[in-house]
Amino acid sequence: MTERFIILDTDPGIDDAVAIAVLLNAHKEQVRLLVTTYGNVPLEKSTRNALCLVALMGVDIPLVCGADKPGLGNAVYMDASFIHGSDGVGGLQDSDLFKNLTLQTPLEGDALQIIYDSIVEAGSVDYITLGPLTNLSALIKRFPDVVERLGLVVTMGGGVGMGNVNDFAEFNFFCDAESATHVLSTVKNLILTPINITTEVAFSLEQIAEIGAKRTPVAQALEAMLTFCYHQCVAYGGLGATMHDSAAVLAYLHPELFEFKTCGIEVVCEGECYGMSLVVEAGCNGENLVVEAGCNDENLVAEAGCNDENLVAEAGCNSENLVVEAGCNGENLVAQGHCDGKSLAGRGNVRLMVKADPARLVQIIMDSLHESGTD
Ligand code: BDR
Ligand code: CA
Repeated sequence: MTERFIILDTDPGIDDAVAIAVLLNAHKEQVRLLVTTYGNVPLEKSTRNALCLVALMGVDIPLVCGADKPGLGNAVYMDASFIHGSDGVGGLQDSDLFKNLTLQTPLEGDALQIIYDSIVEAGSVDYITLGPLTNLSALIKRFPDVVERLGLVVTMGGGVGMGNVNDFAEFNFFCDAESATHVLSTVKNLILTPINITTEVAFSLEQIAEIGAKRTPVAQALEAMLTFCYHQCVAYGGLGATMHDSAAVLAYLHPELFEFKTCGIEVVCEGECYGMSLVVEAGCNGENLVVEAGCNDENLVAEAGCNDENLVAEAGCNSENLVVEAGCNGENLVAQGHCDGKSLAGRGNVRLMVKADPARLVQIIMDSLHESGTD
């Protein structure tokens, strides 16, 4: 891979912690900035966790505290401490492993300005998001030219026809659907890693014991966190300790391991389906439009099941505009998409991850953890 600068935007979180380790092991020198966000736990805790994790791993990367709440919109924030523990790292904050660490001080000042300045200084960056998209959306709104400076954006979030907060919504999108839909429709080159793939990327207790076997501080910390995570995930129906965020980091490091399809993603921003991902597949050359279902010269109709009852998406087109309207329960308008008659450009150009080999991903994560700071 050519040398790229990377910004990592994260809400640690146990699977975030593993993903940070995997990324730093591969590209320590290239990670220019860590940005924290509320998400799995409130901002103060996620920031402390990020600081502890990099201290434990013995790396020194500038960190800036990002958003402490969703942007303006309909979100009602709930943390995910039921999976990650009330401290976000399965109780490790009270352990000797974390207690005696010397932590760096977060950069002080206007967070968005700091992020923007670091991108300008780098020329362009790749940006990986492992939490709600509030920071990146706010950054783009305030500094629209940043879109041209973003190389590849890799996002963990969303679910097609499934959720993990409820039947519809994935956690990161549910935290701030407005920011998610804004980023997905604005960024030009974005890989989306949805829970359809990531829920299968899960450690067993045996694999967790293997990760901890070296007994170094990092190995012990990972083992303790992952054991906690395993039991919580399994209690909520998971296959094991689910490594959503590491799957996204692997999509960045090894895109060849995945299959993608290019599409638009709309995220529902109101009503009971708040945070739900809708796939908009549209090819448009001014004459032919296809939106998931069939088309005739002027009208398109697509229908998708949502809660086994009724999500209905309707698309009408003329030669200039494509409008996709999705109603939930037949009553509330929940999403709109537009096309300028040429392509979905301007509405996002998402590479949605559709296929991977979960066992292989788990093995690659384990191999990385064996190397990363476990000495
Ligand atoms: C996402 O939500 C968080 O709990 C995880 O860290 C991951 O980023 C999965 O839905
Ligand atoms: Ca996360």
